[in-house]
Amino acid sequence: MGKQYYTVTYGCQMNESDTERINGQLAELGYTEAPSMEEADIVILNTCSIRQNAEEKVYGKIGEIKRMKEKNPDLLVGIMGCMAQENKGKLISRMPIIDFVLGPYHIHDLKDVVTEELQERQHVVRTQMNPERVKDYSELRAARKSHIFAWVPIMQGCNKFCTYCIVPYVRGRQTSRTVEDIVREVRGLAAEGYKEITLLGQNVNSYGLDFRDGTDFGTLIRALDKVDGIERVRYMTSHPRDMTFDMVDAMADSPKVARQMHLPVQHGDNEMLRRMNRGYTIEHFMELLAYVRKRMPDITVTTDLITGFPGETEDMHQATLRLLREAQFDSAYTFIYSPRQGTPAARMEDQIDDAVKHRRLQELMDVQNEISLAKNRAMEGKVYPIIVEGATKQDDNNWYGRTSGNKMIIFPKEEGLAVGDLRNALVEQGQTWVLKGKLV
Ligand code: SAH
Ligand code: SF4
Ligand code: F3S
Repeated sequence: MGKQYYTVTYGCQMNESDTERINGQLAELGYTEAPSMEEADIVILNTCSIRQNAEEKVYGKIGEIKRMKEKNPDLLVGIMGCMAQENKGKLISRMPIIDFVLGPYHIHDLKDVVTEELQERQHVVRTQMNPERVKDYSELRAARKSHIFAWVPIMQGCNKFCTYCIVPYVRGRQTSRTVEDIVREVRGLAAEGYKEITLLGQNVNSYGLDFRDGTDFGTLIRALDKVDGIERVRYMTSHPRDMTFDMVDAMADSPKVARQMHLPVQHGDNEMLRRMNRGYTIEHFMELLAYVRKRMPDITVTTDLITGFPGETEDMHQATLRLLREAQFDSAYTFIYSPRQGTPAARMEDQIDDAVKHRRLQELMDVQNEISLAKNRAMEGKVYPIIVEGATKQDDNNWYGRTSGNKMIIFPKEEGLAVGDLRNALVEQGQTWVLKGKLV
């Protein structure tokens, strides 16, 4: 039997997309996907450094792999992604069972490392930042998980340096792919039958600014709206500082662009936003949000929040609770602040007690859950076009699809229904996280 690979992905959608390219490289070497980690000849962890708990999960997994390697010394073990970039060779000195460490800019090297370099040397470490490689991203074949939904990275890196965040250190400076390159990839996807694409970048609203020729995210959206065959274009993540009113117009004028926006606000207090180096005020954020909803009244808006950032007082925390009530997000991802070594916030005074962080997190979730439930209940009795995604994890007879606003509707499967079908669904019951209904 041929050789088999097993990859585990941690972190954001960018990493999921990178994993598809990693798997594509292994497929080119003749590997197939192993049904379980124990059966694999090569195991790769595509890692995330965003918070301490993301890293802890990876260390736990490496422990498991160590026991596997004791039984099977031929097993190849690779660490890729953001922890590879962050820790470099230190990972191997701490855990010699790791054969190779490749940073996010080295997916291109994987085939050579596996077939040649590891024959000559015991360990390989590659973590040089090489932003130019973003330009030949399309050369990396992706083994995509779905035949209907595709990730399309439009840029790498981030220049924002929010004081809590490790991304600019592990993904480097912002580098965009050209509009032509992206449109070519999306046309190819349409020709293969893909219906929905999700554009990926740490800060899509600053897309193209590195070309310094007037290209921006609005240019890209307007170009992609014209690609025949693609039904929906989603994107993430937006930045309230770089999202212009013109980009909102470009979105509103583009029927294929989904009515969904993930717009992380992070905090409800201006002093906190200043210390986070976010570059906007709550007043600006609310004005932008009002314009987004004015142009697209049916849009779903979600956000990210950090609680327990250094110096956060009770009053500041109350400001975030007030913001939640005022902004009426469809949902919010709430995170406990996690100090990241090397970032400015990790050295700030007034770090917040763990118990306080947890209590504040719970308060944020309680307020938001109530709002999410009310928003989803308001959809009851209405019909929404969805793209069918398949069976739910729990039950093969219950399928689901998503609305343009990215709301998940679960419904009883019908005879002959296929993934990718465009259908209408009636919402019968709105819950906090999902909607239940039926096809009509
Ligand atoms: N580029 C995106 C965010 C990527 S990270 C943006 O700027 O919106 C996803 C989310 O993780 C962030 O929005 C933030 O809420 C959270 N996050 C990032 N660093 C964190 C840290 N050190 N501790 C806790 N949460 C963090
Ligand atoms: Fe991190 Fe800020 Fe860049 Fe987002 S914009 S990736 S939070 S530095
Ligand atoms: Fe994590 Fe890297 Fe994404 S740190 S969130 S995998 S860019």
